Amino acid sequence: MKYQIAVIKGDGIGPEIVTEAMLTLEKVGQKFGHTFDFQEVLAGGCSIDANGIPLTQETIDICKAADSVLLGAVGGPKWDSVESAKRPEKALLGLRESLGLFANIRPAMMYKALADACPIKPEIIGEGFDIVVCRELTGDVYFGNHYRKESDRGWGEMGCDDMNYSIYEVERIARRAFEMARVRSKKVTSVDKSNVLETSRLWRETVTRVAKEYPDVELDHMYVDNAAMQLVRNPGQFDVIVTGNLFGDILSDEASMITGSIGMLPSASIGETGRGMYEPIHGSAPDIAGKGIANPIATILSCAMMLRYSFGLAAEADAIEAAVEKTLNSGHRTADIAHADETVLSTCEMGAKIRDNL
Ligand code: IPM
Ligand code: MG
Repeated sequence: MKYQIAVIKGDGIGPEIVTEAMLTLEKVGQKFGHTFDFQEVLAGGCSIDANGIPLTQETIDICKAADSVLLGAVGGPKWDSVESAKRPEKALLGLRESLGLFANIRPAMMYKALADACPIKPEIIGEGFDIVVCRELTGDVYFGNHYRKESDRGWGEMGCDDMNYSIYEVERIARRAFEMARVRSKKVTSVDKSNVLETSRLWRETVTRVAKEYPDVELDHMYVDNAAMQLVRNPGQFDVIVTGNLFGDILSDEASMITGSIGMLPSASIGETGRGMYEPIHGSAPDIAGKGIANPIATILSCAMMLRYSFGLAAEADAIEAAVEKTLNSGHRTADIAHADETVLSTCEMGAKIRDNL
């Protein structure tokens, strides 16, 4: 089969890590008889430099026409002073919205080979953990109105961001979470702040109702503050966490850090169609950009998610994941996951080792 992939290398370490991911896809293609056609487009800071805006209609159109999108990372200090409507991050939000990518899937699992990088005591971790954060991605306070007005308490100017959720939006993300839980440990934890927020009350009611369609899956509810605490107290209690855009943003960073290696974690943003956007969880790491030392594993694993979720190529996805695991088990490390006494591989060397193990 032939697959069209729109590639957004982005800023900072983006180009270095995406290059390794593309080479890995090519190798998978050779092995399994697929062709991946890459079309590179600009988004984020590099698009601001080239076009004056972080996301052009041309980029959106090419991404929409593709079978999937592979993204490195966007943003960096160079664009920090840019006005908020034109910041590089707007490219991400714009792509999520225009591609209808309402579900953000962020797995956080501990690799046995990297267990000692985990910042939590081994007696708490026990057998390890394998969590998926299923974050709603096109609603919530992220996509409400953002504005300023005069405070009616006489406190002068105030900033406002409207938080909204419709039943429809909650139902569709909840179904994704339950379906995912069905093929895992059959447990969903829905996270909200329904002791305070109306959006969360609607969220909880709706998730509870959708749960009736999935009697084989266990559902529990947790307030977000408690969930943040439980993630470090006993991460093994979680399987699928379903939550809104803002809480999911925060909890997925927390979940990734307890694995000890944020450079390892992939993510998928998917919608109603097969087309998704796949990217590492980490950012553009401007401090190490251009040095050839970034860890390409998260981006390579994001390709595995693309193969599995968008193209239905499970064996190919398994092959990438197995190659990464084998590479780690044989002691190969990039700087971010290495001990002082270990030899450190460059971005390209790590990519090459994984391809050798494919
Ligand atoms: C993420 C990021 C983005 C978000 C930013 C860069 C807009 O933190 O993908 O988690 O908040 O969604
Ligand atoms: Mg985030």
